[in-house]
Amino acid sequence: MAAPASNSSAPASYMPHEPETTAREVRENLKKGQNVPQAKTLDGKVAVITGGARGIGLAIARRYADEGARVVIADLNEAGAKDAAAEIGHGAVGLHLNVTQQESIDAMTAAVATQCGHLDILVNNAGIFDLAPIAEITRESYRRVYAVNVEGLLFTLQAAAKQMIAQGQGGRIINFASQAGRRGEALVAVYCSSKAAVISLTQSAGLDLIKHGINVNAIAPGVVDAEHWDDVDARFARYEGLQPGEKKRAVAAAVPFGRMARPDEIAGLAVFLAGPDASYIVAQTYNIDGGNWMS
Ligand SMILES: NC(=O)c1ccc[n+]([C@@H]2O[C@H](COP(=O)([O-])OP(=O)(O)OC[C@H]3O[C@@H](n4cnc5c(N)ncnc54)[C@H](O)[C@@H]3O)[C@@H](O)[C@H]2O)c1
Repeated sequence: MAAPASNSSAPASYMPHEPETTAREVRENLKKGQNVPQAKTLDGKVAVITGGARGIGLAIARRYADEGARVVIADLNEAGAKDAAAEIGHGAVGLHLNVTQQESIDAMTAAVATQCGHLDILVNNAGIFDLAPIAEITRESYRRVYAVNVEGLLFTLQAAAKQMIAQGQGGRIINFASQAGRRGEALVAVYCSSKAAVISLTQSAGLDLIKHGINVNAIAPGVVDAEHWDDVDARFARYEGLQPGEKKRAVAAAVPFGRMARPDEIAGLAVFLAGPDASYIVAQTYNIDGGNWMS
């Protein structure tokens, strides 16, 4: 990995934040028979999770806090973000963020630097869904989905990367793609293509930012049983003439694993990609989908 950028432009509030006890030190001390407290994977890290007020983002926020990180839940749903932060504790912060507005992204990034001192991990998780047959796709739907899933994700990544570069200590960025980004679907052209764009942006940003010690990778979930899927189910029901819940049951039964994922089953991969064992992983998108897609 290239050497981290100079620390000369680091903000005055920045302090080094390496874990006090590394995993290797713990193993060496255990071999010597010394009893030391087990270091947590994300000790001392500050992690922003966009769209963390519910669903997959909330599950990641909970796991990150368990692993020692201070989490910032940044969501359009400000009340939900603050409630989630209060429930999580450990210094968690809930902030308003609209990833479609540059001023909102800048304000969130500045607030994290001021309130937490540094920003080490970005989980670019906020995303929205829509579907329609090709003949019925509207420009409004296209712009709405792309404004969040592509433009919002890119400019949130950019703001976080600039903060991380200024800090000079590298960082981790984890984008949320989808199995939908691996293959088109007849009714889902806009969402699928937006997630294919996330996979491509992850590759380009990963290649550009690793010289600053910033690893950019992505997670491509399959079908995850959270609030989001109630909305997806209702939209499919409309176009496919199904009863409520029917699409969800069919999709779950078709997963080789035999069911949809729980949000907490996605969170472990997000911990791994943010942690020390993923230091050599760059520009990759990992499927976590019960066997739906193989690449
Ligand atoms: N649930 C699934 O089956 C599934 C599968 C594949 C990929 N994904 C992706 O994973 C991510 C999380 O999915 P989820 O199921 O938890 O979704 P969700 O709908 O439950 O949560 C999304 C969160 O993003 C927030 N959000 C929406 N627009 C925003 C904006 N403009 N600015 C800031 N926050 C905004 C919402 O308020 C919400 O809290 C998304 O990117 C989604 O596309 C989900």
